[in-house]
Amino acid sequence: MSKVSVIGAGNVGATCVNVLSFYQIADEVVMLDVKQGIAEGKALDINQTATLLHFNTRISGCTNDYEKTANSDVVVITSGVPRKPGMTREELVDVNAGIIKSVVENVLKYSPNAILVIVSNPMDTMTYLTYKIAGLPRNRVIGMGGTLDTARFKCYLGKALNANQNEIEGFVIGAHGDTSMIPLVRYAAYKCRPVTDLLDKETLDKVVSDTMLGGATITSLLGTSAWYAPGAAAAFLVEAIIHDEKKIIPCSVYLEGEYGQNDICIGVPVLIGRNGVEEILDYHLNSEEKELFIKSSESLRATNAMLKDLGVI
Ligand code: 2OP
Repeated sequence: MSKVSVIGAGNVGATCVNVLSFYQIADEVVMLDVKQGIAEGKALDINQTATLLHFNTRISGCTNDYEKTANSDVVVITSGVPRKPGMTREELVDVNAGIIKSVVENVLKYSPNAILVIVSNPMDTMTYLTYKIAGLPRNRVIGMGGTLDTARFKCYLGKALNANQNEIEGFVIGAHGDTSMIPLVRYAAYKCRPVTDLLDKETLDKVVSDTMLGGATITSLLGTSAWYAPGAAAAFLVEAIIHDEKKIIPCSVYLEGEYGQNDICIGVPVLIGRNGVEEILDYHLNSEEKELFIKSSESLRATNAMLKDLGVI
């Protein structure tokens, strides 16, 4: 029997629960929110799709009752406020840091063996905060950002190539930030053919900038941040863990010397299985990519420094 809890029943959390339930990724899914009735209501609504969509997942919701999340195998943390048009993810750090700290403490009280998947923004910094306060081995604290950014990269590559996105390979590493993520064009391929052989530089540059602004574009269209792809990306990661898929997915993880970095959580390709992060893969970066990775790390260090100023670590 597998159990997954999703903290936060906003758009992203509820979408994640919907995907987890529909695809029967876990046997039991619990959704928790601080707002009275929200998680219960959305859980009930999703539950009532079971006979329509043919699934049999046990789903429940609760208001701030962490006991209900007890003994979860994986806990997805989506709590906090989303960004509004014109805001960067980094601007959310002071509001969300306090929320995440208290969520992590409550989660671990009842699920001390869980693997934690962090979705809340600024995602890399919230992952770093979680790692710092949770006292868990680093394989059990996973930031979701690169999973989502990679899906967006494949989406824009699919449009540019007029091809099935599922036939495209690609990775986005670095921070989950509008100016600091790194779509690795050199490693992207369509049916084993490098995209650099298939698309001209101008088109590839546009794919890269559209990917980097993927979240901001949707935020300005909707007036709040995206949820279908973020929720599905979190569920995709959970699936790789629960089903021990040994998938290589770019995730934000705590680095101890890999990619030349220490004491930071940032997106790199990792092997995901039942133990969470089972290996950090050492993809060779050329000098230009290395330079981008260093810049991306520096931008994260500046945001991480705010955690000390706020007194949360
Ligand atoms: C996004 O990129 C919410 O950060 C998330 O859409």
